[in-house]
Amino acid sequence: MQKLVIQGGKRLEGELVVHGAKNSALPLLAATILSQTETTLHNCPELSDVDAACRILSYLGCKCSREGPSVTVDTSGLINFDVPDSLMREMRSSIVFLGAIMGRLGKCRLSFPGGCELGPRPIDLHLSALRKLGVEIHEEHGYLDCDAPKGLKGGKITLSFPSVGATENIMLAAATAKGDTEIHNAAREPEIMDLAEFLNKCGAKISGAGESTIYISGVEKLSGCYHSVVPDRIVTTTYLCCGAITRGELIISRANYSNVASIVPLLEHMGCQIYAYGEGNIYIKARKNLKAVPTVRTMPYPGFPTDAQALIMALCSTVDGTSVFVENIFENRYKHVNELIRLGASIKVEGRVAIVEGVKKLSGASLEATDLRGGASLVVAGLFAEGTTSITNIYHIDRGYESLEKNLRQIGANIKRIN
Ligand code: UD1
Repeated sequence: MQKLVIQGGKRLEGELVVHGAKNSALPLLAATILSQTETTLHNCPELSDVDAACRILSYLGCKCSREGPSVTVDTSGLINFDVPDSLMREMRSSIVFLGAIMGRLGKCRLSFPGGCELGPRPIDLHLSALRKLGVEIHEEHGYLDCDAPKGLKGGKITLSFPSVGATENIMLAAATAKGDTEIHNAAREPEIMDLAEFLNKCGAKISGAGESTIYISGVEKLSGCYHSVVPDRIVTTTYLCCGAITRGELIISRANYSNVASIVPLLEHMGCQIYAYGEGNIYIKARKNLKAVPTVRTMPYPGFPTDAQALIMALCSTVDGTSVFVENIFENRYKHVNELIRLGASIKVEGRVAIVEGVKKLSGASLEATDLRGGASLVVAGLFAEGTTSITNIYHIDRGYESLEKNLRQIGANIKRIN
């Protein structure tokens, strides 16, 4: 088993480059199924979740190859319409293959994604939306058998919550459905815009992505394209937090400043100087005595992202004053708190609310990553803690960060991976 070992207390200074977004790359890889030809995704991060998506594509009969940061997928040979349980379990978000396989073959069989580290991950919104597009779904023995005997047809769908995955599944299924589809109360995340841009390059007719209503005019078929994956806004946030917690000075490049617009004011309020310049660069400099933030409430985009909650919490545990967090998206997203407490953080959780009293110092300890972003928050805290922090179960972190420890080492962190 591998672990990360950090000697904290080093001020970080230098440049970090942001890789492509995991949460964009995964639906884009699923979307290549619709293209029926060859597609190349540039800036496609090298992550275990991306490998898992490629394994699903290979199982389905597609060819997947990587050259540096580019992944080429040839989906012309797709023969299977099922995804085995073992592959579904590798990555909970594999549910996004449902819409893509339905769009291409009109039938699909995959296992029900069970609970994950963040708690139960229901897919009721995905399924009721697909039913509106003409999909018959039978749930039996943990499997979903989906069939559209008369083909997929457009429809008007109103989501009761702007679910990211459900919005993506609808877009994928509707792109080549007969007729027009409207998604009301759609998710507005940058990854949704990236998927729409990709599908449109392939020949789809989608407008309104990034707003609450998305319009899709079904087209007969799509063909391949070249596309560059949007920069990862949560990796950007992680790097900003690494700069802030070490009271350092960083340039974060190949980033998208507007996609972290809900994070920037919080960091400024704390006492960080932060601005965008040139093409895709963000500068951050943190002063020594940072202060607490007003209440942070996680919300759908463009609100404060749930994926950034643990990261900003790690930072808040080291600043003057009391910060309050309200987690509105996932019910089980405070697992990192007990680990932060092991470092000496003062955090109390009551239901959806976490109260963080900033402390002057954290001291290194043995920790366990509990989930992807929670795990990253332990790295952030470990950079500040005095002495040695070791983090196990880092496979969680590897799902979403490419060479995290190498990148941090280059800007002065004392961090290494040990087998
Ligand atoms: C995506 C992101 C994840 C992020 C989340 C919220 C990917 C691969 N993952 O996950 O990193 O934390 O958005 O920004 O892009 N819900 C239902 N029924 C459904 C679907 C969702 O009740 O059918 C609930 C979920 O339990 C959760 C909330 O809606 O409480 C948000 O989920 P959703 O937006 O669907 O998140 P994901 O797409 O799974």
